[in-house]
This record gives sequence, structure tokens and C-alpha cells, in this order.
Amino acid sequence: MAHRIVFTPSGKRGEFAEGLSLLAAARELGVDLDSVCGGRGICGRCQVDIAQGDFAKHAIHSSADHVTPWGEVESRYAEKRGPFAAGRRLGCQARICGDLVVDVPPESQVHRQVVRKRAESHPIEIDPVVRLYYVEVDEPDMHEPASDFRRLEQALREQWGLAEARADLAVLASLQKALRTGQWKVTVAVRKGRDIVAIAPGFVERAFGVAIDVGSTTIAAHLTDLASGEVVAAHGAMNPQIRFGEDLMSRVSYVMMNPGGDRELTRVVREAIDALIGEAAREAGVTRGEILEATLVGNPIMHHLVLGLDPTELGGAPFALALDAAYEARARDLGLDIAPGAFVYALPCIAGHVGADAAGVVLAEGPYLKDELTLLVDVGTNAEIVFGNRERLLACSSPTGPAFEGAQISCGQRAAPGAIERVRIDRATFEPRFKVIGCDLWSDEPGFAEATAKIGVTGVCGSGVIEAIAEMFLAGIVSEDGVIDGELAARTKRVEATGRTFAYVLSEGAPRLLIYQTDVRAIQLAKAALYAGAKLLMERAGAKPERVTLAGAFGSHIDPSHAMTLGLIPDCDLARVASAGNAAGTGARIALLNLAARAEIERVVKRIEKVETAIEPAFQRHFVAAMAFPNKEDPFPNLAERITLPPRKAPSAEGGRRRRRGASFSDP
Ligand code: FES
Repeated sequence: MAHRIVFTPSGKRGEFAEGLSLLAAARELGVDLDSVCGGRGICGRCQVDIAQGDFAKHAIHSSADHVTPWGEVESRYAEKRGPFAAGRRLGCQARICGDLVVDVPPESQVHRQVVRKRAESHPIEIDPVVRLYYVEVDEPDMHEPASDFRRLEQALREQWGLAEARADLAVLASLQKALRTGQWKVTVAVRKGRDIVAIAPGFVERAFGVAIDVGSTTIAAHLTDLASGEVVAAHGAMNPQIRFGEDLMSRVSYVMMNPGGDRELTRVVREAIDALIGEAAREAGVTRGEILEATLVGNPIMHHLVLGLDPTELGGAPFALALDAAYEARARDLGLDIAPGAFVYALPCIAGHVGADAAGVVLAEGPYLKDELTLLVDVGTNAEIVFGNRERLLACSSPTGPAFEGAQISCGQRAAPGAIERVRIDRATFEPRFKVIGCDLWSDEPGFAEATAKIGVTGVCGSGVIEAIAEMFLAGIVSEDGVIDGELAARTKRVEATGRTFAYVLSEGAPRLLIYQTDVRAIQLAKAALYAGAKLLMERAGAKPERVTLAGAFGSHIDPSHAMTLGLIPDCDLARVASAGNAAGTGARIALLNLAARAEIERVVKRIEKVETAIEPAFQRHFVAAMAFPNKEDPFPNLAERITLPPRKAPSAEGGRRRRRGASFSDP
């Protein structure tokens, strides 16, 4: 007798013979229903909800007694793992005996979606690269002299339809012990349906991966549950290569001047990544052997050094990459102690200065999926910029230098407790108020001194410098050309002479924190480089951005209106300027969880048009225009709607007074 079965949410339907399990019916229809144990009632991944009632749309009356009653296997499972929700059954145990509407809850779907926090981010769909297969392997037999691996292959073929499984020596070394410890029952982690990356005795259901983002300053590792997509531990550490040079170019110089220097830089960064993985694993209570896959993003120089490629050629024109395609290496070959056969997937690089980190940002933000023209800016010592939409994508990098990270700024420091990160300047009195990292209070609020007594007010981080200079501009302390108005020194103690130029006193504490003329100049140079790069792409595309997304650590803290006030980013509706946080890291996590996403980013990267700022004649012109606040040539109509910008002219006493009254943020 045949019964009609409809699976939701897929809507897949069919007619099935009485007595068939719901898991078997789902498989026949290609319904996304998980299973690790192959229907043995151990894994619980096949749970489904039996709908009750009349479903006119499907012409089905569905009822809990249209499947076989609760059996011994389910009772055993529930006893071990806790009771089931009402109407829930193990799909591999419940057998069809009537018409049914069967709902597959998200946690039972292999390809479930992981919703991301930001509203404009598309969810991550899980499309596993590595899957677990529980198998029962025949015991060896004197009369059937087949090797343990041959019998494992046979079990994978017969029980899971995996016909091409293969294992390298590191994995094979663990096979015999695992089979005997597990009494011929093992769980096999198989990558892309072929490569066995780990074999564990008995039934194992935990599988993890790690997404690694190697920045020139910091390295981040996100240990992720491969089934749920959940980040179980996230760890960051300073890149130990800093001792060989603060910025990328000084590290390349180190390599050029010291024979074997590349190997040294490779060794320290690999050791740091491995230590970070160890810390994340410890924190999450995960063993290194349970980490079955890794993904890697980084700027071209970091990418090359982690893979063991000499970055010398990236130190000068024409900035030739040794490798731009995505690459898969065995983790152990990169010194990473995770599952014995695990791979590391490095995302592709886009160009000589636009790396796998930018590819990660593109994957995370998906501008190639949208009509909207998006400008993606990943700010570091080199800004990597991508502009476009589904029709066309362009990319370039711009040498912003380390000013945005607080380096080259006299009172600059890294974003750490005690660093000023928010600044407001009173337009009439020029008095500042600020917030420091590690304290929620503004400096003019009661209790601030006590709250910061321990951490102190030690310096200004990148976002703080941007806000301080933008506020100085809006208050008329600094002109559109970036000159601190010395006339104000006669009227306020906040402006003081420092040799032939002037400085603004941001904090009178110890240490005194001043924004000098040279600091304003350093930010002007950095922001002009960034803007000129973006302008080149806009010009090439013949369009302006409808959305600006700031990626990277600096991008996450920067206030969009202050950044736009300085002309660091082009004009755009301020409501559509947002930070994407560590988007490169998110891209690495997407590539970790979704096999199809890897093919997708490889495809997209191939069609990104690279613009080389170093040889573009227009770059210099855009750079000069972009030295002004917000820009000498380009209008900022969206910004002007929200903020009263000072008029575009050289500062004068009269103008200064007028500007001070007018300039204000309309946002809170
Ligand atoms: S498939 Fe594992 S419990 Fe049903």
C-alpha cells in the first residue's frame, strides 16, 4: 500500500510503500535530512516533526499514528540524550503507515542557514566540506585476507555509497588502532566525499573547523562547529612577525636583506597560528584531532608567508604574486597540528596588493549578488578597496600607511584600554570631551576620573584620531586644508604654539595628549590615498557608491559621519555607511562552512578588474584634491544634509566664529 508523504519546508513529495523509514523516503526524494550514524538510532541528526491535522493544500490528513509507534531504539536515544519535543521522531526509526506531512527542523538539515547579526548580511548556508560517516567494518578473517583499509573502503561504499574514499599515510597510521578500540565501529571524517582526514573509534558526532585571518598586526582564529556553523571559540594574538618590522614593507625588506629571512617569518607566523588554534581548542573543550579543516585569509604578503612562499617580489613593482589561485595544502605541511589528514584552504588573492583577505571581504559582503553599488574598504596599512555590483567589480589597493592604526601619530596608540576612541569638541568653547576604551563614561561625566584611575588616559587610537581631527575641522580649529588655526591660541588654552605650528590639547592629564600639525598631516596623507584609490574605481566604473562598507578592526570602530567629514570615504547616504567588522574573517568562516562558496569566490575573483594605483596618472590628481577636508573638488551633498560643514575657504577670525556656531552633527 502506498502513502502520500510531503516534506516541509522543501515541499518535496512522493508516494511510498508502507513500512519504509522516513529517512529512506527523504533520501529518495533528495530531502535535506541529516544522518551521521546511517539510520542506527545513535546520532539523532534525523529528527523530524510529524504534523497533525488536515492539510488541504496537500490533500493530506497527517497524524502521529501514521507512523509506527515509538520503539525501543528511540526510547534508548531519549534516555541518553533527553526527551523529545511532542510530535518529534527519529526519521530513521519512524516507519510510514499512512499519509503524512513531515517537517524537517533546521537543526536536522545538513544545509541549514546560519543567520548573521547584521541585517544587510546574507545568511551563511552550510554546505559541508567534511562530513562524518559512522561505519561498522567487518572483522579480519584468516579466510578473507583483505587489509583493514580495504574493509573500511568496502564499509563506506556499502553503507554510504562512497566509492572513492582514499587516505594518506598520516591517516592510515591511525586506522588499525581506531578499528580495534572501537570494536570495528568507527567514525570517518571524509572531505569532499573522497579524502579521509580522520578516523575515530566508535560513534563521534563532533566536527570542527578553524577560520584563520592573518593580518600584519594581529592574527585571529575562529573555531567553528562544522554542523551548526556556530563559533565555539574566537582567539586573537599579535602577529609575532612585528619584531621583524612594523609594516609589511619592512618585513619584505627583512626578507630581502637576510638570507633565510622568509623561512624565519614563515616559521614564526605558523607557530603563532598553531598556538592560537591550541588556545581556541582548549577554551572550547575541543581536541586538536576534532578540527578537521582550516581556511586562511590574509593580505598577499601574509598569505605568501604562511604558505611558505617568498614574498620578495611583492616588495616592488610589478608586484608579482607567486600564486593567486585558491590553494589547498595539508595542514600538517603548514605546521598546524589538527586532524592528521586535514587540509587548509587558502582563499584566492585578487592582485599584488589585494589579497585573500579582500577576497574574504567580498565573499562575506557579496557585492556580486547585489544591484546596489557597494564600496568595500578594508583599512589597514594598505587599504584594499573593492567597488561594484553584480555586473562589474573593480579592486585596487592604496598605500595609506599606518596612521589610521594610530602609528605615526604623536599621541597615537593601538586600540587598547586607556586609548581615547571617541571625541567631541564644543563648537563655542573648543573644550573636548572624550571616551576611552575600557570605560563607558564620557570624560565630562561624574565618576570618569575614578573609573579610569587604573587604566589611565594613555593615548589616542585610530578611530579617536579620526574623530578628534574631524571635530577640530567642524569646530573651525583646523581649516579645510588641514592647518591648525594659530589665531585661536589667543582665545583658548586648547590651542597652543609648538614651534612654527600649532597643536590642539585634547587631554591635560598625564601624559598630556596633543594633536599636532604633523598628526593632521599624517591623517590627510592617509585619507587622501584611500580616497584617491576609491575615486579611481568610481571613475573607472562611471558611478558613485550607494553603500559604503568598512571592514577590518579600524573600520569597525570608526564613526561613519566623522570619516566622511574628513573625506576618508566618498559621499553616500550616511544611513548606508556601516562597518562590517572583521569581514575578511567572516569570509574565511563562510569558506570553511560552505564548499560551494569556495567555487563562488574563485569565480568572482577571476572577473574582478584590477586597477593599479601606482601607474594610474589620475591617482596623483585625486590624491591632491583629497588632501582637503572633505575634498577640494568633490561635493558631499549627502554629508551636507546631515552635517553643517564649514564653508570652503581659508580660515579667518570671522569665518572661524561663523563656522563654530554652525557646525554640528544632527545625529546623537
Ligand atoms: S540517522 Fe542517526 S539516529 Fe537516525
